[in-house]
This record gives sequence, C-alpha cells and structure tokens, in this order.
Amino acid sequence: MAFQITKAVIPVAGLGTRFLPATKAMPKEMLPVVDKPAIQYVVEEAVAAGLSDVLMVTGRNKTALENHFDRVGELEEVLRKKGELDKLEKVKHATDLADVHYVRQGDPKGLGHAVLRAKMHVGREPFAVLLGDDIIDERDTLLTRMLAVQGERNTTVVALLEVDPSQAHLYGIATVEPTDEDDLVRITGLVEKPAFGSAPSNLAIIGRYVLRPEIFEILEHTEPGKGGEIQLTDALQELATGPDWGGGVYGVVFRGRRYDTGDRLDYLKAIVQLASDRDDLGPDFRPWLKEFAATLTIDDHEHPDAP
Ligand code: G1P
Repeated sequence: MAFQITKAVIPVAGLGTRFLPATKAMPKEMLPVVDKPAIQYVVEEAVAAGLSDVLMVTGRNKTALENHFDRVGELEEVLRKKGELDKLEKVKHATDLADVHYVRQGDPKGLGHAVLRAKMHVGREPFAVLLGDDIIDERDTLLTRMLAVQGERNTTVVALLEVDPSQAHLYGIATVEPTDEDDLVRITGLVEKPAFGSAPSNLAIIGRYVLRPEIFEILEHTEPGKGGEIQLTDALQELATGPDWGGGVYGVVFRGRRYDTGDRLDYLKAIVQLASDRDDLGPDFRPWLKEFAATLTIDDHEHPDAP
C-alpha cells in the first residue's frame, strides 16, 4: 500500500516588498482575499487533500500568522455571549483547521533553503510544498491528483501550467516528454527564471510540489543560483537529470483555475474573480461590476494584459 502523505510545508518568510506599505508591519500572507487571509486558502487546500500537519517556514514579522491559527479566547467568548454563532464559527474554523507548526528560516537564502529548514520536521517521508502566492480554486483538486501520482509512481511531482511565453521568465520552466496519461509529463530539464525570450518551453512550475525526502540531501549541496539564492528548481533539476537519483520528476499539467496573489495586479484580479463567484457576494457584486466595467475606457496605447 502506498505511504500516506500527511505533511505540508508552506514557506512564508518572504518580505512582501511588492505590497509595501501594507506589508510594513503585517505579513503579506495575511492580506485578505475577499474576507479571508491568503494563507488560509492555502492551508484549507492542504487539509482538503488530507494534509493536516502543516509546517510554516517563517521569518521576522510573522506573529500575525501564528495568531491567526491560534485560539482567541476573549473574542470567542464575546461572540458566544452576543449569539453571533456564524462569526464564532469563522473564528474557530481557522484554529481547528490543521495542526500548524512553525520554524524560522533564519537567513533568507531562497526557496530551496526554506524547504531545507523543514528537514527535521518532515523526516524520511514524502511531503508537499505549497507556495502562498498561488491560490488553487477549491473545485479543482490539483494537490489530490499530485499526491495520487506520487503514490502510484513513488516519484517527485510538480505542478505545471502553460503560461504565455512573455511570462516564462518569471517562473521555473520545464522541458518535458509525454507519458501515457494526458495530464502527466516526465520532466527532462528545469531552469529557474530563464532570461526573457530564452525559455525552453512555456510550461511553468506553479507553487505546488510533492517531494521525496532525498530532496534534502540535494538541497544541502545546492549552490546559490538565480538571484544568489538556493533554488528549489536547481535541486529538482539535479533530481530530474542526475544519475544518482532514481524515480525522476513528473509534472501534472494543471488546466484548472489558479489565482496568483503575488503582485498587486494579479491580487486585484484574484479578489474580483473569487468575489464574483461567491454565493453571498456574487449576486450583488456581478451586476455592479458589469455596470462599472461598461464605464471604463481603454486608451489605444494601453495593453489589456499589461502587468
Ligand atoms: C518560485 C519558484 C519558481 C516558481 C514560482 C511559482 O518563484 O522559484 O520556480 O515557478 O515560485 O510561483 P517566486 O515566485 O517565489 O520568485
């Protein structure tokens, strides 16, 4: 029987400078996406896929995150006394969601370094890594599919998304060969954020990984790469191509709904999309949005997809 994966690692040590000044005193993961902090969507996704042991790799300034997933006795008491049980339920939900642990990253040496900080907690088991900037729609079960592939093939699995070639320099990019399954490819090479126009494909890694524990051994000797940081993509490249590691790396090609909250424009789009879809807000929000959109004028020189 396949090993049951239970652990998720979420790196949250980033400074969030793209959202200053909002992130001066607050972690970017606590920015609300409609009415929930971005990080809660990610933890909910992990839990929905059966991963209730969550390790956050944090940095300075992240106490608000710990508070969010902790009990707030006084608030619960006030809501209970007032009979505001739906609000009480919302407060308790974040607390009861998962068994959340924290480790500090220490030096901000990159994503690969953050993942390596999970070694003690994870031990010798396969585990998932979820990056907080990406929200996957709860109706699309990407992580569940990735865990199934890991179980069937006992391999390393990353999520891939076809992006516009003009965006490829923002991601880790994979070269692949097909398998006998439509949404699954075998990865033959990976490069972290290739120079503009030089990407070997338009298949980008999005922030979901199911890793085997040998990634830690590789990360221990991975040299700083792009941006002077220890890159998870470089460690995966060694896994995919190095002779010493069996199993290889596979990619699940995601064709569902993904919301990027990593920069201001994508964050705005994510909020509008998610709010439009909500049963409680959508019916009022959609007609307003339509009316508002009709009042907009777009100058010729403005590109509709400009970043
Ligand atoms: C990280 C990874 C990159 C990946 C991206 C997905 O980059 O290094 O390979 O494509 O996440 O969001 P970041 O966006 O943190 O710079």
